[in-house]
Amino acid sequence: MSSDAAKKAAAEAALKYVRPGNLIGIGTGSTANYFIDALADLRNDIPGAVPSSEASAERLKAVGIEVLDLNTTGPLPLYVDGADEANPQLHLIKGGGAALTREKIVAGASTQFVCIADDSKRVDVLGSFPLPVEVIPMARSFVARELVKLGGDPEYREGCITDNGNIILDVHNMAITDACALEAAINQIPGVVTNGLFAARPADVLILGHADGSTDTLGA
Ligand code: 5RP
Repeated sequence: MSSDAAKKAAAEAALKYVRPGNLIGIGTGSTANYFIDALADLRNDIPGAVPSSEASAERLKAVGIEVLDLNTTGPLPLYVDGADEANPQLHLIKGGGAALTREKIVAGASTQFVCIADDSKRVDVLGSFPLPVEVIPMARSFVARELVKLGGDPEYREGCITDNGNIILDVHNMAITDACALEAAINQIPGVVTNGLFAARPADVLILGHADGSTDTLGA
């Protein structure tokens, strides 16, 4: 079961990857929020951060960290973000918070991706968590039919519009034995913006937090 103490422990353990003077890419979600709150203490040591969502941009501003545009910063040394599932290869499912596209962009633009999660997110095989897919609205039904052909069971996420103005299909019952191949196959469907598999660009480091405040680090 996930716990706030476990998320906070993982988030605070990620502070050691922050270098004075370096820009940081920031993810989205409750664990990323704990990281933003912890990063506030270092606000005078960093020039700013590139957020992966409007929500994270607002939280960064609220704690006094400058929000920067990826088009002006260029490559980032570090990206810190949560996940919905993580396997031993540090492949992830992300997008429970509907920010997967911007998260994938900022992760792709970053040299090091440190994933922070409570220990409930650690799995042997990805796919118990429904795989989010961001879709151009007019392509919703077509993409859903194509996802069924790939073996999934897509469900429209009611009332969810992404920061990019698109919709989310959550795909249930996918047997994700080859995450890289499935990530590429879904992204080939016209109308798909991207999907929540982070396998082509996995995390480099995974910090798992436990409810007692301890952490484990994989991939360091
Ligand atoms: C948002 C995400 C989040 O990283 C993911 O949903 C985990 O969220 P939380 O830290 O709240 O458990 O991918 O799109």
